[in-house]
Amino acid sequence: MRDDIEVKTAGEADREWIRRQLTENWGGHMVVLRGELLDVTRYPALIAGDREGLLHYRALDRDVCEIVTLEAFRTGRGIGTVLVETLAARARADGHRRLLVVTTNDNLDALRFYQARGFRLQALRPGAVEAARRLKPEIAPTGNYGLPIRDELELAREL
Ligand SMILES: CC(C)(COP(=O)(O)OP(=O)(O)OC[C@H]1O[C@@H](n2cnc3c(N)ncnc32)[C@H](O)[C@@H]1OP(=O)(O)O)[C@@H](O)C(=O)NCCC(=O)NCCS
Repeated sequence: MRDDIEVKTAGEADREWIRRQLTENWGGHMVVLRGELLDVTRYPALIAGDREGLLHYRALDRDVCEIVTLEAFRTGRGIGTVLVETLAARARADGHRRLLVVTTNDNLDALRFYQARGFRLQALRPGAVEAARRLKPEIAPTGNYGLPIRDELELAREL
């Protein structure tokens, strides 16, 4: 992991920038996760480097911490890795035992990325994105590699 990339907790001064990023990259600050429409801006965030990456997370319960969003604005430079490893260390220090993340069937790059960083697939929810689209119609019909976005995959890493 790169040790020259600083990771900080997002603060008040980052709010506007975060909103802009969420609008540009996620179609707004509302995301559907586990069938629930969530306002991402309510959750704590980590920022890597000179605003080169952004991760939101939440505690699902005492044991489980969940990645809500993760985006590296320039990929393949270790930004995603430092964000995930920083969260893993913080979550472990806070007493959590597992890190969870949900991604979609088209996101083959993320599936590779997470599995290479100690996550294991633990659930497939067929049609979950089709259901999510009823809550958030802006979710695109197709995603990476032109694949239809239909299903959620859940991965977990023991801390
Ligand atoms: C998935 C995602 C977050 C990964 O972030 P990233 O910053 O590209 O990830 P990294 O650079 O840390 O690692 C990816 C690859 O980059 C390369 N890499 C890592 N560190 C590197 C470095 N210092 N220099 C050059 N390349 C490096 C590696 O080849 C690595 O591949 P590996 O999995 O075989 O190790 C990013 O692709 C992304 O933002 N995708 C779009 C949004 C998204 O899908 N988010 C996930 C939603 S669940």
